[in-house]
Amino acid sequence: VAAKRREEYPERLRAFGLDDDDLAAWQDGRLPGEAFDDWLTDRVARRPRGARAREVYGAENTHDFARKAILGALSLKPGDHILEIGCGGGSLLRDALAAGAQATGLDHSADMADLARERAAGATVVIAAADALPFAKDTFSAAAMSIVLMFLDDPIGVFRECRRVLSHGGPLAVYTTSPQLRGTAAAPEPISSRCHFYSDEELAELAGRAELLDMTVHNTRGGQLLIARA
Ligand SMILES: C[S@@+](CC[C@H](N)C(=O)[O-])C[C@H]1O[C@@H](n2cnc3c(N)ncnc32)[C@H](O)[C@@H]1O
Repeated sequence: VAAKRREEYPERLRAFGLDDDDLAAWQDGRLPGEAFDDWLTDRVARRPRGARAREVYGAENTHDFARKAILGALSLKPGDHILEIGCGGGSLLRDALAAGAQATGLDHSADMADLARERAAGATVVIAAADALPFAKDTFSAAAMSIVLMFLDDPIGVFRECRRVLSHGGPLAVYTTSPQLRGTAAAPEPISSRCHFYSDEELAELAGRAELLDMTVHNTRGGQLLIARA
């Protein structure tokens, strides 16, 4: 079984656009074969790392539908200060700066934090985890998460953290993927089975349990945009 698994690694990596560098990284890690699917999920999306991840998250069209939906809902302007949790390659931060807002990004991947700093010069980018935001209360006028919520084991805890760091009435915009897209190209295996999916009602309920207010969920063909207020 182990030998068969080893033979499959290159092909399974190629299916996600990964190459020999990524295979070498997997081999260097010396993890047991059972860890491969989790490692792949991290490498590609949950904690992106490596040259291919930089290429993907540095591309203009990566998750542009989510970014546009979030920015459209937030209508940032000079004087605003947005926090983006799981900022990836920094495209949303860059666009927020272009709108005249101050922008802070947070990501637990050092590679993504470096990329965001390069691509959104002028933004502050910190390496940290979503469930313990290293900011004082009332720091931000808006907050966002683009294709991040599905990776969170404690979404209510993260929503509570968002409420704490947002000023009174400040909006939180979250773009995520509904259960109907589980296992499709939008959420393929093995990533899909490591993700959390929520119906529109469940999403609003999670935000409500974190004492956020005025929840709305727009669902466009399985892409969900949750807006709530602190
Ligand atoms: C699929 S990528 C999305 C990146 C970017 N927001 C976009 O839309 O292109 C998910 C990002 O969230 C980050 N992330 C996931 N879970 C996180 C957590 N608990 N704390 C901080 N960052 C997290 C990952 O490192 C990764 O950069």
